[in-house]
Amino acid sequence: MKGIVLAGGSGTRLYPITKVYSKQLTIIYDKPLIYYPLSILMLGGIKDILIVSNKETIPMYQLLFGDGSHLGLSISYVLQPAPNGIAESFILGEQFIGNDNVTLVLGDNIFYGQLDFFYNALRRKNGATIFGYRVNDPERYGVVDFDKNGKALSIEEKPKQPKSNYAVPGLYVYDNRVVDISKNMKPSPRGELEITDVNNFYLNEGNLNVEKIGRGVAWLDTGTPEALLQASNFFGVIEDRQGLKVACIEEIAYTMKFIDRTQYERVIDGIPRSAYRTYLERILHEE
Ligand code: DAU
Repeated sequence: MKGIVLAGGSGTRLYPITKVYSKQLTIIYDKPLIYYPLSILMLGGIKDILIVSNKETIPMYQLLFGDGSHLGLSISYVLQPAPNGIAESFILGEQFIGNDNVTLVLGDNIFYGQLDFFYNALRRKNGATIFGYRVNDPERYGVVDFDKNGKALSIEEKPKQPKSNYAVPGLYVYDNRVVDISKNMKPSPRGELEITDVNNFYLNEGNLNVEKIGRGVAWLDTGTPEALLQASNFFGVIEDRQGLKVACIEEIAYTMKFIDRTQYERVIDGIPRSAYRTYLERILHEE
């Protein structure tokens, strides 16, 4: 399974935060936003990761993550010259994906809690799996509508009159056919290759699984300044209460055994004296 983090776009809705700075690098409590979606791929056991972004931001991600080898990952980067749509990731990532299946996570999506819904999806070899998450404001998202038996009937992108309260989060698990399917898509009236069109293609073929994510999982919004503050407060409370960090990619690399103890110690050596470093050291001593 390969993993893609889509982390470009224009971010105009958060102006002026995003005037010179990419949305996915804004701070959620104690780390950049992109750490959270990246850590979800890592927790799924995905080590081969492509970051898709624009020319201004790729150098910054390279500063943050390099080639990922210090974390036992292989991270590569590809340029999306313009925000032509989420589904363009699979076209830009064709070589990277090769013959494998692929998980896409949007670089501004945060999940927290028991990730079984994701682990189950990763076990499926054929078709596509997307998720449904109950929200108050479905009109801002892709919206999935279910029949009485919980079978998905339709997916609509930002409908004015949503048929349900179930939004589709930015985490999608596809078989290898997604590359060809995306290549055959036409841009929508707003000029984008829509992920919702790809999902509807799988749905019409009968090859789409839509799993509801329960209320015990937090899928947080990052679309407004209020939402960014709420997300920061949310993780501030949890990290402070538990004394454990969320989306700490070095810790995850170690606990997932992507790197051994010696490699982990080397990673710590490269981190300046800070609360973050002290935390990483503590993990070693608490084993
Ligand atoms: O967050 C989940 C939602 O994400 C889904 O429910 C929607 O179905 C899906 O279309 C998407 O909606 P958004 O309105 O959030 O899409 P947005 O255009 O804001 O793009 C999401 C992220 O992906 C954003 O951080 C920028 C990045 N992006 C987007 C596009 C279209 C790119 O890097 N390149 C792109 O071409």
